[in-house]
Amino acid sequence: MFKIAVLVSGNGSNLEALIDACKNDVIKGSIDIVISNNPNAFGIERAKKYSIKCKIIDNKRFQTREEFDQAIVEELNNCDPDLIVLAGFMRILTPVMIHAFKNKIINIHPSLLPKYPGLNTHKSVIENQDSSHGVTIHFVNEVLDGGKIIAQGEISVYSSDTLESLKTRIHAIEHVMLPMVVSKFADGTINTKKVIYEKFK
Ligand code: GRF
Repeated sequence: MFKIAVLVSGNGSNLEALIDACKNDVIKGSIDIVISNNPNAFGIERAKKYSIKCKIIDNKRFQTREEFDQAIVEELNNCDPDLIVLAGFMRILTPVMIHAFKNKIINIHPSLLPKYPGLNTHKSVIENQDSSHGVTIHFVNEVLDGGKIIAQGEISVYSSDTLESLKTRIHAIEHVMLPMVVSKFADGTINTKKVIYEKFK
């Protein structure tokens, strides 16, 4: 069985989309562990509802980012995942984690990378009066939001859009895209050597 680990820091709606897709056999795999750095992440509640193993590793308990990452690596090593999905995980990974799971970590980012890496992407889109916005799923490497792109989805931006309306529409395409991409890892259509660039619109 294809083993998936999901890392979250907050709401966890993308996690829930993955849980649904596993339950419905859209993803031929299982979510074996959910890890959060935030003890209050709602994503943990979502996972518990489905009796998925959860682990809180609070970054505040660690002196350095490397020590925090090492604790995550140790937990992940226990379940030996095939794929690690960062789904709203708000910590920047260090080489400790990236090298331990080389080419096995993917992230979902709310912008059309390479545009707007980092935080506050919806705000930047509105401030710059962009006419389009979107989502990128990419491999994680040492460069923040800079790894190889796997899939992108685009939405139009209207003059009436607000942070909230953009967030809602971005979430809507994320919940389709992320399960689809993970399902392709699970069935072997995508792997590190074979990335199929997908454009959702
Ligand atoms: C998503 O918009 C994702 O792109 C970004 O963080 C958000 C997480 O949302 N990395 P949720 O916690 O899955 O609801």
